[in-house]
Amino acid sequence: MNIPFTSKSTSSINKDPEKSLVDYQNAKSFLERSIQDYNQKVFSSSDSTEIPNFEVTRIGGDTASTSFSFSNKEDILDLIGYFSKNYDDLSLKESFTDEFRFYGGNEIINISPPKYGFPGKVSVSKIGGYENADLDAIVNAYKLVTKETKVDTVEDRLKSLGVEIYKTDPSLTWDYIAGYEDVKQEIKDNIILPLQHPELYEEIVKGTRKVYESIKPKAVLFEGPPGTGKTTMARILANETQTPLIYVPVDGIMTKWYGESERNLANIFDTSKELGNNFLFLDEIDSLATSRDGNMHEATRRVLSVLLRKIDGFESNDKTMLIGATNRKNDLDSALINRFDNSIFFRNPETNERQSILENYAKHLPQEELKEIAEKTGEISGRALKDLCERAERKWVSKRITRPEIKELPPLEEYLDSIR
Ligand SMILES: Nc1ncnc2c1ncn2[C@@H]1O[C@H](COP(=O)(O)OP(=O)(O)OP(=O)(O)O)[C@@H](O)[C@H]1O
Ligand SMILES: [Mg+2]
Repeated sequence: MNIPFTSKSTSSINKDPEKSLVDYQNAKSFLERSIQDYNQKVFSSSDSTEIPNFEVTRIGGDTASTSFSFSNKEDILDLIGYFSKNYDDLSLKESFTDEFRFYGGNEIINISPPKYGFPGKVSVSKIGGYENADLDAIVNAYKLVTKETKVDTVEDRLKSLGVEIYKTDPSLTWDYIAGYEDVKQEIKDNIILPLQHPELYEEIVKGTRKVYESIKPKAVLFEGPPGTGKTTMARILANETQTPLIYVPVDGIMTKWYGESERNLANIFDTSKELGNNFLFLDEIDSLATSRDGNMHEATRRVLSVLLRKIDGFESNDKTMLIGATNRKNDLDSALINRFDNSIFFRNPETNERQSILENYAKHLPQEELKEIAEKTGEISGRALKDLCERAERKWVSKRITRPEIKELPPLEEYLDSIR
């Protein structure tokens, strides 16, 4: 039997003028890595039994055979459709009761249907070795047969609710924020220690209180003027404790999900519990503040009431710790402020702190010059200092372009000129 497939595809692998063979080792490691990454996204760690087999073996030279299992009979049609679209001279050469064998120019594709509860098997070999496009075709075919079992991960669901999840980022350590030693200490005492030593807190409370109640903070507020490092510190905290940070841009949630914001927020709280230990970071909760005219928008009121209820529902053994950030604490609803166990204040930096911050962004300048800049800026935030340094750098770049004989880094004067 010989059934030629007509191709509907415009991007045929066989006609690709830029054929480039991938050697066996590279092909194998690419395929295995891609499938591993994909599996990690698609399968939760608990259902490892459902992950299809995937195997790349060498047949000789760079010729490889890649096989994977699948369990849905209906997938056969999808697979044949997919391969025939990609390889336009593919034809069915042999058909046995339990195997279809397709031949193209150099490729041989075998598909065995699942039978009697045993999984089916696909194998794709190519004489002489795979090309890049073959590798993509194999990965896509694998994705095709795993789509049925695809479950949305907790992270996917959270992301679809409009939040971001920050995993650890090695460049964000305590040192990234210069100065603020007292703020860092407060964070360590009020957030990190209770997380790391819950048993010690419990032991003390059991000895001191008539009625046991947890003193582990459930919600902490970061407050202070703009650009003083509140958002950055939350990310550092997550990184230093190796705990994911669920970043909720409150303003974004309010506008993007208009009319559904409160349901979405409730959903975020509920879903975050499934993530294990985590920080739920509600950034810029100012959008829940009373407006300047003293009135509160109806939508804001509904979101606020959900927020209050959710915070009240936190149990002491909850895996979520809430962190809120604001630069308008005074305009926030007092019921909301009262729900926070602690408030940590991020002030604008003092002169010596400005000097340390500048050292992060202009490390080539000597201390006395950094001090001079710090004195001349007056009271400005860390962000404003960083911006100042960026302005000086940009101007210096354009000077160096017009005057190539300059080889130095920007001098003091450039920074002083950049003060606004
Ligand atoms: N003490 C500091 N040391 C080094 N960099 C700092 C410091 N404070 C602020 N910055 C820099 O300023 C930038 C802005 O900080 P961040 O966004 O965390 O401020 P924020 O308090 O969240 O501001 P906002 O209230 O406007 O949201 C950061 O990129 C950080 O690099
Ligand atoms: Mg911020």
